[in-house]
Amino acid sequence: MTEPLQLQQNLANGWAELARAVVDRKHVWHTPTLVSIGLDGAPVARTVVMRCASEEFAEIRCHTDRRSPKIAEIARDDRVSWHFYAPELKLQLRLRARATVHLDDGVADDAWAKASLSSRRCYLAPSAPSTVCAAPSPNLPEHLLKRVPTLEESLPGRANFAVVSTKVEEVDWLWLASEGHQRARFTRSEGRWIGAWIEA
Ligand SMILES: Cc1cc2nc3c(=O)[nH]c(=O)nc-3n(C[C@H](O)[C@H](O)[C@H](O)COP(=O)(O)O)c2cc1C
Repeated sequence: MTEPLQLQQNLANGWAELARAVVDRKHVWHTPTLVSIGLDGAPVARTVVMRCASEEFAEIRCHTDRRSPKIAEIARDDRVSWHFYAPELKLQLRLRARATVHLDDGVADDAWAKASLSSRRCYLAPSAPSTVCAAPSPNLPEHLLKRVPTLEESLPGRANFAVVSTKVEEVDWLWLASEGHQRARFTRSEGRWIGAWIEA
């Protein structure tokens, strides 16, 4: 019965690496790719900062502007994917998840309270992200182009701040090795992960 044990250990190691990447800004997994389903049905990929990775709750979170297109996309279809590849570890994780957006609740309040002033500055954008503009625009108030806001100046940003919480339902784990790649799929059912080796 060593195979199931090794399978579960691989998954646990993957979650531990994700948790490390949340706090290590230099970790290549700190900024994964989040894919949602566009309003036209086509996939839409973008880089985000991973803010939380909880093995216990099978949850990964990021923060965004509530006016950004991804919020409308998730409201229409909550299915998302996460993509992580760490060249040093030769490890790719592809996660399928369901997303929930937190706007005016305790989850968003708590995340906002912990957000740094430089992070809060992003949410002071005068225009909705993706608005067409006449010239290249950082979408920041003029007086905050070269400095972070004070705590008081940052407060209006709360109205634009959102937490995207994703509940992971499936993990595709791929480890590259010269002696042969290994691949496994883990599916979550009633709070437990069921793992199986699959062909690389
Ligand atoms: C390194 C990096 C980190 C980023 N982090 C975030 C983030 O945490 N949240 C976010 O909404 N956008 C982030 N972005 C910008 C997104 O990639 C994207 O351009 C923006 O969110 C618009 O996405 P949308 O139009 O699909 O909603 C980041 C971009 C880069 C390059």
